[in-house]
Amino acid sequence: METDTLYPTTEALSGKALFEKIRGDFIGLDTEYTLATGETTRRIYLDSTASTLMMGAAHRASIEFLKHYANTHSEMHFSAKIATKTYGWIHRRILEFVKADPDEYTCYFTGSGTTSGMNRVARTFNTLRPERDIVLVSIMEHHSNDLPHRKHGGKVMHIPVDTHESTMGCVDLDLMEKYLQEFEGRVNYVSVTGISNVTGIINPINQVAELAHRYGAYVVVDAAQLVAHVPIQMSGLENSEMDIDALVFSGHKTYAPGSPGVVIARKSFLSVIEPDEVGGGMVDRVFPENYFVTKKFPDREEAGTPNILGAINLGAAIHILDLIGMDFVLEEDMEITNYCLKQMLERDEVVIYGETCTDTCPRAGTISFNIKQMNHGLVAAILNDYYNIAVRNECFCAHPYVEKMLELTHSEQIEEAKEKVHQIAWHTEPWMGMVRVSFGMYNTHEEVDLFINALNDIVDNREKYEKLYTINIHGDYMHKHFSFSSKDYFSLTETIKQEIL
Ligand SMILES: Cc1ncc(COP(=O)(O)O)c(C=O)c1O
Repeated sequence: METDTLYPTTEALSGKALFEKIRGDFIGLDTEYTLATGETTRRIYLDSTASTLMMGAAHRASIEFLKHYANTHSEMHFSAKIATKTYGWIHRRILEFVKADPDEYTCYFTGSGTTSGMNRVARTFNTLRPERDIVLVSIMEHHSNDLPHRKHGGKVMHIPVDTHESTMGCVDLDLMEKYLQEFEGRVNYVSVTGISNVTGIINPINQVAELAHRYGAYVVVDAAQLVAHVPIQMSGLENSEMDIDALVFSGHKTYAPGSPGVVIARKSFLSVIEPDEVGGGMVDRVFPENYFVTKKFPDREEAGTPNILGAINLGAAIHILDLIGMDFVLEEDMEITNYCLKQMLERDEVVIYGETCTDTCPRAGTISFNIKQMNHGLVAAILNDYYNIAVRNECFCAHPYVEKMLELTHSEQIEEAKEKVHQIAWHTEPWMGMVRVSFGMYNTHEEVDLFINALNDIVDNREKYEKLYTINIHGDYMHKHFSFSSKDYFSLTETIKQEIL
């Protein structure tokens, strides 16, 4: 990698010292709201699996860049040279971050997250080997790593997860091999998530690759959750069969909200087919009757003016994560996840979904649960209204996986729902779902303690809280006496007014 003067690394901190410095430097860590109790407290953000907060240093780097902002398709003026050089550097830096050999792989940006990239990859692989009509995914996938393959990839089959004596763990490699054997020659690719967005369970992606390659299938990794939590090695392993063919992730889950989705894929795949998207910037020459696509990567995959500013944020965040070292990030992540999990397991009234023995089945960053006899929406509302703890609830865009795990606690309701209507909307059944707490590098043990304290209070005072809420027609729990108005905290027009006064 060429040295880059915009981001000097020689005297920068690294490892633990940098982690400690960076973790307190995120925008929104001191945001306050007034609660149902009348108190005003600091928000505790436990929803990083949905979107992470913005890394302050990355944001400041992008503000600095704005002085030189220009379109990367312009070439001759000074700012365009700076923009183009920096934008190119980010692509190379990301390849380095996921250990993808730049001679073999390219990195390109698309859309605003993983979803767009996954649709692109599904179309690419289908165009590449149309004669192979099957795609294997696991049952634990986010819809973004399922529906694009159903629509563009072929016939999708869902591999069950390892049952670990009835709790659900990571993808079951033995069962996956059975599918690969049975449909040998027909499976085009296997696409699995690196980390489940529901349970935080980590899949052995390089072993999945080794297995899939043994049967001639390619391997795609949904790294939406993986990238900010676990070190990734796409290539250069001792056994090259363990290399990953394509990997997709979201910048907004990697401490850079507003940044693009990222695809890293083998150039050999992309160079033999016409790029999926066409337009400016990806052609060498255009005539009224035909056009010639450039052979240059990533240009040929990035039609149109890219999200340059978002890419700058992302490149800066990735660079900082790499300077800290992802081994260290993972260690911290597992430590705080286990710290929380252990305390949650102490309450019999709390059901945690997925395998909870993290020695046999490691997890990072995410825990989904329910409190027995309480609906997930009510728990999430109380955590918010009384404790200023931001969590996600419902089904996390992973209906098949969530439904499978809810069998553990809600088998009767599931059976009844099946009989009622076929196409039932999930939010109309208030029991359908879970509560999810998730961690980013800014979360502290003190915040986990506050969450555990809140959880214990809710468990102990379930009936008191139930009386304070009603459900509206959208299935949301509403406090009977307390209401929140977003414009008390942020109004775009008011903010603009202050700016232009
Ligand atoms: C595992 C996983 N895959 C895919 C996605 C989709 O990502 P995006 O919404 O950024 O397109 C998500 C988002 O939550 C996810 O967690």
